[in-house]
Amino acid sequence: MAERETLLSILDLARWAPSGDNTQPWRFEIVSDDHIAIHGFDTRDWCLYDFDGRPSHMAHGALLETLRIAATVFGLDARWTIRPGCPDTAPIYDVRLREEPGLVPDPLLPQIKTRVVQRRPMSTTPLTDAQRARLTAAPGPDFQVQFFESAAERLAVAKLLWGNAHVRLTCPEAYAVHKEIIEWGARFSKDRIPEQAVGVDPVTARLMRWVMQSWGRVEFFNRYLFGTIAPRIQLDFLPALACAAHVLLRPLKSPRLLDDHVAAGVALQRLWLTVTSLGLHLQPEMTPVIFRWYARSGRSVSRRAGINEAVVQLAGQFEEIAEVDDTVPFAFFCRIGGGAAPTGRSLRKELIDLMVGVS
Ligand SMILES: Cc1cc2nc3c(=O)[nH]c(=O)nc-3n(C[C@H](O)[C@H](O)[C@H](O)COP(=O)(O)O)c2cc1C
Repeated sequence: MAERETLLSILDLARWAPSGDNTQPWRFEIVSDDHIAIHGFDTRDWCLYDFDGRPSHMAHGALLETLRIAATVFGLDARWTIRPGCPDTAPIYDVRLREEPGLVPDPLLPQIKTRVVQRRPMSTTPLTDAQRARLTAAPGPDFQVQFFESAAERLAVAKLLWGNAHVRLTCPEAYAVHKEIIEWGARFSKDRIPEQAVGVDPVTARLMRWVMQSWGRVEFFNRYLFGTIAPRIQLDFLPALACAAHVLLRPLKSPRLLDDHVAAGVALQRLWLTVTSLGLHLQPEMTPVIFRWYARSGRSVSRRAGINEAVVQLAGQFEEIAEVDDTVPFAFFCRIGGGAAPTGRSLRKELIDLMVGVS
């Protein structure tokens, strides 16, 4: 039905979907001219943040929604199903494409490639009612969108992120991840986060690069030289104040299965593309959500004394800010605001390197 070139063009756009730490946990297979198989994977075996693979499953959802939007360029309706019998660690999504007469390109299409993370301070210009309404509708009816906009709310979130970042920076299990995911000295990176998109000034970046060469250095620096302070001010506290709003995406029903986390990924991508279409920027703030998943399922973040207790306390602090109890599910947390676009960004692996079954 569709030419192979058409399917490749769709995948070439779809690969711009976001994934945690730019891991791109997907590979593409063109099975036939109306069937693409997405081979998903996750990074839970080495990445502390990939709790039960959920952030990767959310990335799969973001990819599938991006693919759906991209297919509309060619008048194709793309629908996906999760192939039964695959383990959650390696889900396969079967995407079927069908010509749909009269199908117009999706309005979010222009944002696929311009959507980007902004980790630096944003403008504090408040959202308008019209913007808030668009953002509330963007993820669809299965999700509630909660905004934290006042100075007092942003300060409360800043304190929450400050606490979460302390855990992140003093936890050996998280260090092992941070060491892998930054491409130092780079403005762009195809498979990681380039230094210039991290959100610190060049002097702090040089210091971080040196310190992060060994856990011994990190511990020494943290203990005697207040090593967590500079990165936490630049990466967490100030950006949390410098934005228009923090936004919490809450699923209306408790997520239980892979499908639910994939659906959260569809929702987050719709939210992010809509933010971009409004001329605003977004930064995910997933650490408090992920640490709360650990806390509320009684799982350990770290073998290091005191960390698990801190994580439980932070989960309670997050629930107080959101004014909910410990049973209410959270899917995605981020901050949004206006201002200049970032100068550095993550790129993507080449399409050919993401393809399987190509001879
Ligand atoms: C599920 C998910 C969780 C993420 N969590 C964070 C986060 O906590 N902090 C952050 O700065 N970026 C986070 N990101 C953004 C990714 O690092 C980013 O999308 C990726 O590096 C690609 O960069 P780009 O979005 O600029 O293209 C997250 C993305 C996804 C999809």
